[in-house]
Formats: sequence, structure tokens, C-alpha cells
Amino acid sequence: MKIIAHRGYSAKYPENTLAAFRAAAKLPIYGVEFDVHLTKDRELVVIHDEKIDRTSNGSGFVKDMTLEQLRQFDYGIWFGEEFAGEKIPTLSEVLEVFAITNLHINIEIKSDIFIYEGIEELVLQEVTSRKLEDRVILSSFDHEAVQKVAELAPNIENAPLFANPVLNLRDYLMQVPAKALHVSLPSALRYPVRQAIKAGEIVRVYTVNEIEHAERLLPLGVDSIFTDEVELMLEFMNREVR
Ligand code: G3P
Ligand code: MG
Repeated sequence: MKIIAHRGYSAKYPENTLAAFRAAAKLPIYGVEFDVHLTKDRELVVIHDEKIDRTSNGSGFVKDMTLEQLRQFDYGIWFGEEFAGEKIPTLSEVLEVFAITNLHINIEIKSDIFIYEGIEELVLQEVTSRKLEDRVILSSFDHEAVQKVAELAPNIENAPLFANPVLNLRDYLMQVPAKALHVSLPSALRYPVRQAIKAGEIVRVYTVNEIEHAERLLPLGVDSIFTDEVELMLEFMNREVR
């Protein structure tokens, strides 16, 4: 079972900041996951929520501000004084951190609440210009975005995200079409997902921060877990393979 650092190393660093990504880049893990939104001036930025309120000292929607306006706020201090000065990173800055590693890069397109017209093309341009096609995974709760990725870049790995699984996941994957399934922890334990794994589908599970949950997922044949607690899960997996 592979380990993917969820929003960077987000248990120890402020999520979706360069500090969290640089820490993740040093660890012997399979990959990293982060979330992208589009600014008012159509720049791709890495942040989880539609609003900056929870993870910065500012307020407002990402879509209503330019990159320059978003850069005026601090995205580290909410997590700890020592992280003061962290800015909202662009997708380009984050890809630069991982370009020199072997890590897989899961870009989650956050177009499920607001429609970011053309976000798929912009993300793909960044990925192809850095020649990262072979180790990028593009996912979204917005399955139209996942479908668009399949149309525009059939060779790049894509995956729909599910908070709750649909009944016939294999047919659904074929219909999109998509190469993997990203599901919530409660969904992973349910029949449709267990069947999909048995039938050979790649299933990745979010967000697994407790050892007891990892212990339940391991025998199911889950491909990877997204975790904030990267070192804890590394220790768990090291114990398991011994
Ligand atoms: O991509 C896996 C996971 O990040 C999905 O949920 O809300 O943490 O972006 P969320
Ligand atoms: Mg995410």
C-alpha cells in the first residue's frame, strides 16, 4: 500500500504551502496530493477551500481575487508562528518542487463548487510543459473535469473522486473513462469498492490518518492511501513489510 502526502506533509506543516511540499519531497513516499483553483486573472493556485479564510489571515473567494491580491496574505501563520510568510503557491511553483523528485503528483481539480471554465486545459499545459505526464494523476469530484482530461490527454492518469460510491463502479469508470478510483475512507470498506478492487481496479483512499484504519485497508488490496500523517504511515508500512 503506497503513501501519498495529502496537501503536502500537512500534519506538520501548513497544508498546501511550499513548506509542506518541500517536507514531503524529502520523504520516501509514492506521491503527493494537492488542490488547485483558478484566480480572477486565471492563474492556477494551490489551496483547498474556495475561500482563503481558514488557511490565511485574509478573507474572500479565490475566484474573486487576482494572484497579486491573494499573495498579500499569509498562509502559514494560522498553523504556527514559525510558518509566517508562506504565500499561496501557484501550480507552477509546486510542480517545480516535485520536478526534481520521483514522486507521483496528484493534482485535484477543485471545480466541483464553482465552474472554472477551461481549468483542465490550463492544468494540462503546466503538466506537459514540464514533461510530467508520466507521473501526474488528475482527479476531481467534478467528473466532467475527469472526463475532459480523458478527452484532452488520454495517456495521463485520471480518477474521479467519490465521497460515496455509485453501485456499479466498473461500468462508471469505463463510461468516463477513467483509470483509477479515489474514494473516501468509509466508502473504501463498502461492497462496490471492495468488488472493484477484486476486479483489478486501482483504488486510492482519502484521508487515512489512523493506524487502525490503515490496518483495515491493507488486506483489501487498496493501491494507495492519502494521509496527513506521512511519517506515522511510513512507520506502519515499514513494520508491515518486515
Ligand atoms: O484527493 C483526495 C482528497 O484530497 C479529497 O478530499 O477535501 O481533502 O480535497 P479533500
Ligand atoms: Mg484534495
